[in-house]
Amino acid sequence: MTAESLDAIFDRLIRDIPDFPQPGVMFKDITPLLADHDGFTAVVQALAAAGRDESGAVCVDKVIGMEARGFILAAPVALALGVGFVPVRKPGKLPSATYAVSYSLEYGEATLEMHTDALVPGERVLLIDDVLATGGTAAATASLVAQGGGVVHALAVLMELSFLHGRGALGETPLLSLRTL
Ligand code: PRP
Ligand code: MG
Repeated sequence: MTAESLDAIFDRLIRDIPDFPQPGVMFKDITPLLADHDGFTAVVQALAAAGRDESGAVCVDKVIGMEARGFILAAPVALALGVGFVPVRKPGKLPSATYAVSYSLEYGEATLEMHTDALVPGERVLLIDDVLATGGTAAATASLVAQGGGVVHALAVLMELSFLHGRGALGETPLLSLRTL
């Protein structure tokens, strides 16, 4: 039996929820994917490919996940690559000294934080999140990595909402998107 394609996995296990969390928004619900061992395994392996070079060797030192949905994907990707996991969190959640970056949302402002000792200077980092939308979350995380002395190797996401032009916020950072919407 051939392995199910990523496209088939997405079609089967990511569902559209209209008007969530607010009217007019079509929410991409990944909880059926997370609940399916074969599907979850396939997407974790596919995301982890962004942390390997052409020969298949691991070429990152850490995997960062952005709270909250990024955590769910980034931790198993870190284990798949055999490297450590670093959380980038919403404000006030990390107990030790942090770097903080604030960025604009459509309405208001958001802040993300990372421990100042989370990275060893020079470490290469793979960023993992579920969705790239405007790119604000990814750009803020890249800024935290830079403050911590790290180097962003790539960003890998399940889905890119291309109509929000998040790629434009990434600069030269390579992007692996498993599905473009
Ligand atoms: C969502 C999503 C991405 C981010 C993408 O996070 O999980 O992290 O938005 O949007 P952007 O590219 O415009 O920054 P959100 O903080 O809304 O929710 P979460 O805590 O459930 O991850
Ligand atoms: Mg998020």
